[in-house]
Amino acid sequence: MNMKIAVIGTGYVGLVTGTCLAETGNEVVCVDIDASKIERMKNGEVPIYEPHLDVLFDRNIKAGRLSFTTSLDEGLAHGEIIFLALPTPEDEDGSADLQYVLGVADEIGKKITSYKVIVDKSTVPVGTSDKVKATIAKHAKSEFDVVSNPEFLREGFAVDDFMKPERIVVGSSSDRATALMKRLYGPFVRSGNPIIIMDERSAELTKYAANSFLATKITFMNEIANYCELVGADVDKVRIGMGTDSRIGKRFLFPGIGYGGSCFPKDVKALHKSGKDENHEFKILSAVIDINKNQKTVLIPKIESYFNNQLTGKKIALWGLSFKPETDDIREAPALDIIDALLKKGASVIAFDPEAMTNVERKLGNQIEYAASMYKAVENADALVICTEWSIFRTPDFEKIKEHLTNKVIFDGRNLYEVNEMKEMGFNYFSIGR
Ligand code: UDX
Repeated sequence: MNMKIAVIGTGYVGLVTGTCLAETGNEVVCVDIDASKIERMKNGEVPIYEPHLDVLFDRNIKAGRLSFTTSLDEGLAHGEIIFLALPTPEDEDGSADLQYVLGVADEIGKKITSYKVIVDKSTVPVGTSDKVKATIAKHAKSEFDVVSNPEFLREGFAVDDFMKPERIVVGSSSDRATALMKRLYGPFVRSGNPIIIMDERSAELTKYAANSFLATKITFMNEIANYCELVGADVDKVRIGMGTDSRIGKRFLFPGIGYGGSCFPKDVKALHKSGKDENHEFKILSAVIDINKNQKTVLIPKIESYFNNQLTGKKIALWGLSFKPETDDIREAPALDIIDALLKKGASVIAFDPEAMTNVERKLGNQIEYAASMYKAVENADALVICTEWSIFRTPDFEKIKEHLTNKVIFDGRNLYEVNEMKEMGFNYFSIGR
């Protein structure tokens, strides 16, 4: 039987959650305080770029299963399950700022008049569900349960990850709430993937531990890559040699110019800070944070050395601005660190990205130039720097690039090309760990 759902917060996670839950027949009302965004969504506009989301969005709005409102009251009256998909931004000290989550919890407490399950989908520190419970309980006149249900979806694959999750983690100490969550997620795990039920604190920590582990895995490979350069080994070979051991696994072993995005940087720092609060030093995470910061600009010394430390007046073409392909998200994108370093050293930058240029222009304005195409970017540029592995950059017209570039030099932060082939084509080619 379909269920009535409210999703509070229509950011990345909220919007994908709401749309995908509507897709399996539930009636979903999405609530946000941003009136102009709600208006745009009512008119069928998806406010983020995410493959396949537009199709589901359109279909479910038309079917009357997905609607939008700025009224929290309306959302709360509608939903028997209330998802909190609110931002938990990084505080100055690295901890997660809970003001939005607890603010809404306070409102919920004042407003609910019948049993509700409040589901925390935001990434929140251990103990938050207890705080949410206490906040609601201050005023609540009806019964309620709070469960923790961390979200593991990846940008660019969000719809697929939500519709076919490898696992669903539910932290719940109420049988009534657990039964409702199992019913809600049943259609998503027909393939046999598990819904893992645990206590709330373990569920909250699972999300931080998973993201911090993946960030550590990437960072470990970045360290190996940097070492490969010193000893003349090839990180691509090492990666394959390691990754075929199923205990290690092939995924998330790709070295590059550091991890970015809205989750890894924030979550690693937040777990590190939570540890400190308990007098527990996550030494491994201190190292990960440090190494990743340096990794983002690991190409800069290579560029400087190629140009004999003279970057003043050099025009650098830059391909890829988003923190990874298939998204317009530029949060913590290594490209921004590289641009900053290049500008500080007196170079100018002309950039191209298939989706993220508008976002960068909003942030950087005319500090850099924006090219109409990947080939326009390299026209009369002194060098090409690649920051994101968008598919269209994988097999470019190298002759065209050679014609356009003043120096035949490419600095590749994503190891897109074969080192030998680049040499044969006459490029000076610098990549990571090879
Ligand atoms: C991540 C988690 O994967 C997801 O489970 C969680 O819910 C949110 O955070 P996302 O940030 O969308 O998802 O991107 P992901 O594909 O995981 O990549 C994160 C960063 O790691 C990117 O900057 C990417 O370039 C980098 N990365 C990833 C590497 O440098 N090497 C790799 O091998 C994999």
